[in-house]
Amino acid sequence: MSRKKISLIGGGQIGGVLAQLIALKQLGDVVMFDVVENLPQGKTLDIAEAARVNGFDSKVTGTNSYKDISGSDLVIVTAGLPRKPGMSRDDLLTTNAKIMKSVAEAVKEYAPNSIAIIISNPLDAMVTLFKNVTGFPANRVVGQAGVLDSSRFATFIAWELGVSVKDVNALVLGGHGDTMVPIVRYANVNGIPVMELLERKYKDKTKAAEVMKAMVERTKMAGGEVVNLLKTGSAFYSPAASAIQMAEAILHDEKRLISACAYLNGEFGVTGYYVGVPAILGENGVEKVVEFSLDKEEQALMDNSVNAVKKLVEDMGRLGF
Ligand code: APR
Repeated sequence: MSRKKISLIGGGQIGGVLAQLIALKQLGDVVMFDVVENLPQGKTLDIAEAARVNGFDSKVTGTNSYKDISGSDLVIVTAGLPRKPGMSRDDLLTTNAKIMKSVAEAVKEYAPNSIAIIISNPLDAMVTLFKNVTGFPANRVVGQAGVLDSSRFATFIAWELGVSVKDVNALVLGGHGDTMVPIVRYANVNGIPVMELLERKYKDKTKAAEVMKAMVERTKMAGGEVVNLLKTGSAFYSPAASAIQMAEAILHDEKRLISACAYLNGEFGVTGYYVGVPAILGENGVEKVVEFSLDKEEQALMDNSVNAVKKLVEDMGRLGF
């Protein structure tokens, strides 16, 4: 069995963590591409020189030439600017759309059979653009947002309840912006509803609802919270880890059911847009979008989020992409 080839387009903060995690988990060989001369070569040399200590055989190399991504099984795209304090993800649209178009053209030419995971923001628009430019089938283009947003929600719940985060299941759907939709009704700790645990903790339904509302709000603004602390860029450890969970699901054909930014063809009442939904990830990429019934309130929040995604994609169209 030959080793998988994983190309990282963008060798910045997220790209660096991605390369290291792929090597540590021995998911395959890594080629890191960046437009900045010597950056990907330097970063990957640094990671590769720890192979003896970390005990991995993955080859980790850097390049400024797209031809080196030829034959990739998987491509993970982080090319583009991150946010600075005061910026929304949508403020990155013009700059990152230009970059994403060039990336997609190169992937189409050099890695036409790959599956692509997009991380660059504004996520929902960037995934759409990548799919449109490459012409790849929908199952081979997916965005990372929901895994991270769900992990953030689960983390806050675990902290609040004093339980291991490993036992918390919490799903976040919708667009990767302030309108995202944490699904409170199904959040649970090993099957026990989080709302019931909060009500028992506080012995007061109103207080429990307030605590949950605060966790939902913190989840929605979690990316911005990190940006405001870092000041020079945005989160990178957690987005990288989240994309790696998706990469593992694809490379190991795990059929994991996780929240992913997937192309909708009527599911959840949406056609022709990329939105965060539960999806099964396996060797063919997005193998299935999994529907479930939303209650009235969730549906209204989802509609609002889908409308924000539609507006973003329309804005991108007006910019000529
Ligand atoms: N092709 C390839 N790489 C590019 C291009 C391009 N045309 N233009 C810029 N890059 C590279 C930059 O040189 C930089 O190394 O993309 C990298 C981005 O890295 P960082 O600035 O460190 O940003 P990072 O934190 O990794 O985030 C990347 O993911 O979560 C999103 O909002 C975030 O859009 C941002 C992206």
